[in-house]
Amino acid sequence: MCGITARVGTDDALEELLTSLSNLEYRGYDSAGVALLDGDLDVCKCEGETDDLRAAVESRRPSGPIGLGHTRWSTHGPPTDENAHPHTGCSDRVAVVHNGIIENYESLRTELRSRGHEFTSDTDTEVVPHLIEERLDAGRDPEAAFREVVDVLEGSYAVALAVEDDDVVYATRNGSPLVVGIGQEANYLASDIPAFLEFTDRVVYLEDDEVAVVGPDDVRFTDVDGRPIVREPQTVDWAAGDAEKSGYNHYMLKEINEQPVALRQAVEGRTDPGAREIDLEDLPPGTFDDVERVLFVACGTSYHAAMYATSLLQRRGVAASTSLASEFANEPMPLDESTLVVAVTQSGETADTLAALREADRAGARTLAVTNVVGSTAAREVDDVCYIRAGPEIGVAATKTFSSQVATLGVLAERLRGDVGDGEPPDEAFLRGLERLPDAVDSILEANRTERIADSYAGMDSYFFIGRGIGYPVALEGALKFKEITYEHAEGFAAGELKHGPLALVTTETVVVAVFTGENDEKTLHNVREVQSRGAPVVAVAPESATEVHRAVDDVVEIPDAPEELSGLLSNVVLQLLSYHAADLRDRPIDKPRNLAKSVTVE
Ligand code: M6R
Repeated sequence: MCGITARVGTDDALEELLTSLSNLEYRGYDSAGVALLDGDLDVCKCEGETDDLRAAVESRRPSGPIGLGHTRWSTHGPPTDENAHPHTGCSDRVAVVHNGIIENYESLRTELRSRGHEFTSDTDTEVVPHLIEERLDAGRDPEAAFREVVDVLEGSYAVALAVEDDDVVYATRNGSPLVVGIGQEANYLASDIPAFLEFTDRVVYLEDDEVAVVGPDDVRFTDVDGRPIVREPQTVDWAAGDAEKSGYNHYMLKEINEQPVALRQAVEGRTDPGAREIDLEDLPPGTFDDVERVLFVACGTSYHAAMYATSLLQRRGVAASTSLASEFANEPMPLDESTLVVAVTQSGETADTLAALREADRAGARTLAVTNVVGSTAAREVDDVCYIRAGPEIGVAATKTFSSQVATLGVLAERLRGDVGDGEPPDEAFLRGLERLPDAVDSILEANRTERIADSYAGMDSYFFIGRGIGYPVALEGALKFKEITYEHAEGFAAGELKHGPLALVTTETVVVAVFTGENDEKTLHNVREVQSRGAPVVAVAPESATEVHRAVDDVVEIPDAPEELSGLLSNVVLQLLSYHAADLRDRPIDKPRNLAKSVTVE
């Protein structure tokens, strides 16, 4: 999704602005631009990557102490120089960057055209600078003009404005993320913290409709009516190095390798297997006594983690189900205060998930966010929050956050069991299994031989991932990751469903990756034999002790023996590595797959 950034200081903003834009690349983009303000505005923007922008900037060298930057992920109009942000009006007195969608832009554009405005782009954004210009012409000061214009915008947006001869940047948001960075030498603004993390770790998360006026020495905040408000900065506990590649070729590989640490952080201090107790910070025993059922809402990888958690809850006597957040509004279901709606979202900014949460809130349900990002919109809008503590994830493909989500949801399942489920105390073996996950993942990473497997099956037509029980969401996640970064055709299926249709597609050119968790493995072996008798090669991911599976398949990747409920998490690490190596062999842009964005902030 689009990334906004700004830097306001007294020295030249360009270099830090370009660094921030590079740091935002992971969000996904297809064009980029900057506007530098030093009395006059100088805008430089182009289709392509931030390196293309750097080249364009080299020849022009725009400069000034105030800068706006933007990475654009096309929604209205193709990726072209003209559609790249910042956008200016007719007279180049204002520059605007925007993330989100302005839903009423067509009517605004028609009105503006009738008043003589000429447009140079296809974007919804361009109405904003033209509207600002009109207000400035009518004698408003820039802040008043900004407020008036934001008031007529409909949709979801984060928007920032610089005006010639001014010395601040104005910014606001409605449904799209925006965070202010308070620095020593300068102040910052961005869609996400990694943009400026190397310059400051003191942040203020802007709330919807609040306006930030970012100056070189201070940042002023006002509410929707323009009344001053006090916002104290928080210090984020991510180090700048957490958002760097640290010698790995890709963020994805780095993040796969960070899983032992991430898992330790997710579980540490939260479990006491000997005492069969858990300590979930603000969610002590009894927190959910009034809850009768649990409904997860999530998208993509987080949806698969939620499916995994649904299974964990059901096994603990909790009535639980999972809904795709993007389908939530289309599947109205009875919700009231006895339903706990749990949003699982790494970023805490996914528009579909936020929409589902808001719908649940309107219906009177209790809400909980399981998220990675402290201060994210989801975290701020719910009744309760539980952090997965994975540290920043930059690769578009979610890896360590899936593992951290599953581990955190595992702890949560043990809490909900007492309050809503079978009333049993937490399961000692499961809690010990959670604590051993970091070592188990370490051994998978050390023994990794998926590169050879990826190589042996390159050039096949399709890749099917099958699993049963907890292996089913893992199969879906394996297929999502594989298609997302290799661009090969991959599908995930419940193993028992193959014979109800998909088997028709299976040929000698279909690789079947089968996930074995130790539960009902004999049934999954039947399904394996069904595809083998059609000539399909089978790769199994199976516990060390599953010797029958080892004998039955063409290739096997072992995972350490663990409680069956946690085997799926371990298998998924193998599938991440398999996807990574398959994509690397194909020379794909692993961290920034085409057409995709890290944080999907439009519905
Ligand atoms: O930030 P979220 O967890 O809400 O994101 C949801 C999905 O967009 C995300 O999990 C996506 O499917 C992954 N990036 C795929 O690897």
